[in-house]
Amino acid sequence: MKFVSELKRTNYCGSLRASNDGQKVNLMGWVDTRRDHGGLVFVDLRDRDGYVQVVLDPNATTMAAAKDVRGEFVIAVSGVVRKRPEGMANKKIATGEVEVVADALEILSEAKTPPFQVNDAAVSENLRLKYRYLEIRSHELNQRLRLRHEIVRTVRNYLSDEGFIEVETPILYKSTPEGARDYLVPSRVNQGTFYALPQSPQTLKQLLMIGGMDRYFQIARCFRDEDLRADRQPEFSQIDMEMSFVDQDDIMGVNERMAQLLWKKFRGVDIGKIPRMTFNECMNRFGNDKPDLRFGLELQDLAEVAGGTGFKVFDDVLSSGGSVKGIGLEQGAEFSRAQIDKLVDVVKKNGAKGLVWIKVDGTGKLTSAVGKAMPEDAIKKIFARLVPGGKGAAFIVADQWDACCGALAALRLHLGRELKLIDESSDKFLWVIDFPLYEYDPQAKRWAARHHPFTSPQNQFMQDLVDGNEKVYGDMLAKAYDLVCNGYEIGGGSVRIHRSEVQAAMFRSLGFSMEDAKDKFGFFMEALQYGTPPHAGIAWGVDRLTMILANTEAIRDVIAFPKTAKATDLMSESPSNVSRDQLIELGIRLAPSLEQKSVGSEGKTNGVVPE
Ligand code: AMO
Repeated sequence: MKFVSELKRTNYCGSLRASNDGQKVNLMGWVDTRRDHGGLVFVDLRDRDGYVQVVLDPNATTMAAAKDVRGEFVIAVSGVVRKRPEGMANKKIATGEVEVVADALEILSEAKTPPFQVNDAAVSENLRLKYRYLEIRSHELNQRLRLRHEIVRTVRNYLSDEGFIEVETPILYKSTPEGARDYLVPSRVNQGTFYALPQSPQTLKQLLMIGGMDRYFQIARCFRDEDLRADRQPEFSQIDMEMSFVDQDDIMGVNERMAQLLWKKFRGVDIGKIPRMTFNECMNRFGNDKPDLRFGLELQDLAEVAGGTGFKVFDDVLSSGGSVKGIGLEQGAEFSRAQIDKLVDVVKKNGAKGLVWIKVDGTGKLTSAVGKAMPEDAIKKIFARLVPGGKGAAFIVADQWDACCGALAALRLHLGRELKLIDESSDKFLWVIDFPLYEYDPQAKRWAARHHPFTSPQNQFMQDLVDGNEKVYGDMLAKAYDLVCNGYEIGGGSVRIHRSEVQAAMFRSLGFSMEDAKDKFGFFMEALQYGTPPHAGIAWGVDRLTMILANTEAIRDVIAFPKTAKATDLMSESPSNVSRDQLIELGIRLAPSLEQKSVGSEGKTNGVVPE
């Protein structure tokens, strides 16, 4: 039997149905399981579309090979599709109504015993990452990667139909300021100099607008050397876009329609108009700028009832311009001390100095962390504000506004998850708008751009920016917007500064000397002077978007070859040492403490560059 060369595959294993009954088929794939039932051998043959049961008759002349077949062998089978007899159908699988009676089989490639069964989800993640190609054979991962493909295809078609042109931009580039550290690539030709991998194609897409492309998009690879979390990888993909001659509403409109289309196609739901909320309102009500709106537990401001109670912690915070805010929870009436201690840990891990709690149980008995430090009527008043029903628990944090918000946001999310308050049956979108233009970095003692330094202030702050009026930096709002879904920031963008004098003022306000700005962005500043259209853009995280639509909680689950939390690839074992010769070519010498670790191709210590 000469398969691949002479016989062509006719069907995917997973595609066969009762309607194929009687058809002669040639299948190729992996042996999922092999069962020997005395006379008959059954093989579940798997390919990317699923698997089908193949019946091998040991009396057939070509069946000698059937005896040797084991799990993950790659085989080709020729046979006839047969409807399974009444009552024998396997309803659990899509091909369960049929089986293929083989009359020929060929082993195309043998396989070692794999370190785990490909569909066994209970295997440790590290092992799965080391043998990721085996996990890719699993139904789940295969489906997620295919979903990702369909999402990207839908986006490509949508944006193309809206007049966007896909343009590729360089990966070997110059540092772009998105707030993370750069990955650097040393240049061999120009020793001592480095490319930076783009944290995003931000300046490049703006240059495309200056180049008159008018509407650009790209499925762009981005690289950021930052602390990893479940929704962050060192390299990830963006749906990156930019439009000329538009304002904030235009670009939000294009993106809102894209979200509606994606949800219609992949969830079968109309998400309707996406609500908008200012950054300030968002922070005050939910504690962060990417709230999960699938449950309540909103924060309440307590300045009015918590001030003047004689409780020093509250009084001090309020008199220094800070906030006292809290969350009330009716379900909290029966919380044990241990449960409450855990909540104290949550807020402490998230920046708060402590958590004040008050509890009233079913009998009306009040217990509180502040016991004697606060008069009982003040405690009761605060409790009544947070828990109007009179029975439950109240949790209060006093700190500077942002710290207070941050700690309570973490507590809110923790309670939402622990108490299963989140309505998983629907997705909740939100546009967050009116972000501050700047944020103050107290360590560096200077202002930093909250989104990035190309973001335009709202019109009423333009003159103050040009004038370098630092007194109002803290109040300035940006033409920036984030798209949030279920507590994840899936996209973020802004209207850009398109006048070079405003961009220069922005760099000045961020503490760049003219020389610095020229060195880092001279090419860009110059380009702005050659006729720049007003423009705006946004980028979505492809991985986060797919993660939500795939109902998973880690972007690793929707990336074919992801990195670990330590930014390593367990499969190829990268990052890895390089040879001494390579380092010499690049003009690089390792620090002495690293030299021992790194042995070069000639068995010598790495990176000793001859002087
Ligand atoms: P921003 O930095 O907000 O904006 O990024 C846009 C979106 O990219 C996703 N994202 C990530 N996904 C996975 N891992 C990461 N480490 C990671 N970092 C960001 C998020 C985020 O919303 N140039 C601007 C966009 C613009 O202004 O047009 C930018 O990159 O979903």
